[in-house]
Amino acid sequence: MSSYASDNPAQQAITVTRLRKMKQDGEKIAMLTAYDASFAAVLEQAGVDIVLIGDTLGMVIQGHDTTVPVTMDDVIYHTRMVARACERAMVVADMPFMSFSDPARALDNAARLMQEGGARMVKLEGGGDVINVVANLSKHGIPVCAHLGLQPQAVHKLGGYRVQGRDQKTADAILHDAKAMEAAGADIVLLECVPNALAKKITEALTVPTIGIGAGRDCDGQVLVLYDVLGISLGHRPRFAKDFLAGLTAGDISISSAIRAYVDAVKQQHFPDDEHSFH
Ligand code: KIV
Repeated sequence: MSSYASDNPAQQAITVTRLRKMKQDGEKIAMLTAYDASFAAVLEQAGVDIVLIGDTLGMVIQGHDTTVPVTMDDVIYHTRMVARACERAMVVADMPFMSFSDPARALDNAARLMQEGGARMVKLEGGGDVINVVANLSKHGIPVCAHLGLQPQAVHKLGGYRVQGRDQKTADAILHDAKAMEAAGADIVLLECVPNALAKKITEALTVPTIGIGAGRDCDGQVLVLYDVLGISLGHRPRFAKDFLAGLTAGDISISSAIRAYVDAVKQQHFPDDEHSFH
């Protein structure tokens, strides 16, 4: 039986309504990436609230140096595997580079992620330029996670992976975009690599939850890339990433324990600390 019907709140499926309630109640949201059914089952068992099939799969699974080469078929393939293992957790699929370049294309591709992949929400990168896309998806009943701050799909335009919103002008622009995303119907605003104070301001200004990655502990939730949590990232590890496997004590060293340690650290607001944040 679907966990939508469970009487036990801890087992009920995570919905957009539940995520808003978690924000209101001050209950932190734990989000993590996964790309296959086995890892997704471990995340589900560990109490991860949102499982993201991120286009980071281009790097950690496929070995590319950016997320740009990832295709719709790639994301659908991995979303299907993850969705089969998730009952309680909200399954969010990333819209890859150029898959949402106009509202009609975005609608077709978001529908594919939901119908063929089994996603319950889609995530897309971009600010003011994609507000009409977000509004159109929302109008058609598609939950959206809007990804602001550092947008890795624009890495070639940005000239590298850098903290965003450090000066007043860019900070104001990100705050403005976050409010516009909520007004357009976004259900989550994800903030990547922005200073703590800006993330706090945005979190306080919105009704929908914020999820941070390199955005400090005042966000309503946190997300990391699974392979960073397990200390098996290829190449450079970003400042915000933490290896939770390495932090386990002898006698309790397992992948499940590392994921549980991440969930506990998010829920108890021990992560991120200053070492994994930007000021
Ligand atoms: O693609 C991804 O995994 C992401 C996270 C880093 C937030 O966007």
